[in-house]
Amino acid sequence: MKEKMKPTQKRRSDARTLRQHVLEDIRTQIQNQTFAPGERLPSINALCQKYGVSDITIRAALRELMHAGYLESQWRSGVFVKAQREQKPNLAGEKVIALLVPALNNPFFGDIIHEAEEQCRLADYRVLIANSTDDAALEAQQIKKLSQQVAGLIVMPSRGRNYVAYAELMEKNVPFVFLDRYVERLSVPFVGTDNEQGGYLATRHLLQMGRRRVFVLVEPDGTSYEERLCGYRRALKEEGIAFDSSLVLRSPLFNDACGYMLTKELLLRSGDEGMGGEPIGIFALNDCIARGSYMALKEAGKSIPDEVAVVGFDDISAVFLDPPLSSVRQDVRELGTTAVRLLLETILSGGRHPAPVVRLQPELMIRQSSNAASSFSLIEHFVGNAS
Ligand code: RIB
Repeated sequence: MKEKMKPTQKRRSDARTLRQHVLEDIRTQIQNQTFAPGERLPSINALCQKYGVSDITIRAALRELMHAGYLESQWRSGVFVKAQREQKPNLAGEKVIALLVPALNNPFFGDIIHEAEEQCRLADYRVLIANSTDDAALEAQQIKKLSQQVAGLIVMPSRGRNYVAYAELMEKNVPFVFLDRYVERLSVPFVGTDNEQGGYLATRHLLQMGRRRVFVLVEPDGTSYEERLCGYRRALKEEGIAFDSSLVLRSPLFNDACGYMLTKELLLRSGDEGMGGEPIGIFALNDCIARGSYMALKEAGKSIPDEVAVVGFDDISAVFLDPPLSSVRQDVRELGTTAVRLLLETILSGGRHPAPVVRLQPELMIRQSSNAASSFSLIEHFVGNAS
């Protein structure tokens, strides 16, 4: 049962409520310029009469508004509305670009942010990073708010296909571009990897390594993953292998957890039918998924690549897995650079820029996770990168 307030507690609570009411009413009048910048406020007595409160309550409310930068007291003259309140800068007036990503807990997005931020800095723009957590409702709120604050947006859209939110941006001629993923049927500048080709290269390689059954591990869908699956099916068809949907495993989880759980499921199922001594292939649609798959395979005592050959996507930290992971490399630097270039062109053209679509070619990096005879060497890799 809620404890009854003591009389003194009740008085303090009432005073706080009254003070808050006075504070908010005066602040609203400042914000809507009923009290103009530089204008002198009515006297304490006048305010006491207006709000029907004590002078203590009025003085407390005015003190808070002074601390917040709305008011200033001038000796023997009174209290005035601050001419230039130190407000949060209206970012739209500054050269600021928003970068809206669907997640931050995956190194791919960190690398994209790194490259885009560097390019924006070179163009004398600041970058405002926002994370939609792949949630369509949150993404719609962020788009609405960010579009009023910045010069333009680079968006990696959530899987929620926020047509209304993006259509509103287009109606308002807000400059924005899609990066890595897109919303179908919206004519918006876009840069991404040729994911279909990447899925084809990964799958063809596994088939060439003698894996007639290639499982695909998929986290919640985005256009990039669906395109990779198209490439997977093209490679199967080219080899005359019928598509078997039971080999495409989807999880509501992300990253390593997705790979770990789906591989456990895969091994359970293979256990029933028996892998029949037949080595299989796993195409993980990003390297984090592949990393989780490794964990489950090692727990089950499976050897990589002899029993299970694994290929990932992104080629980010793939070289540090044991054995080094074969992966489809995305040119993250070019993705970030191109996204900024497309957005700046859109800003300069006033948003009426035609909607170019730029597809970057992926590269399959073959290492020991799919080909034991691979000559990949970590030392040479670093020496090569250092030179
Ligand atoms: O690792 C995150 C994945 O989602 C990447 O492959 C990137 O293309 C994004 O779509």
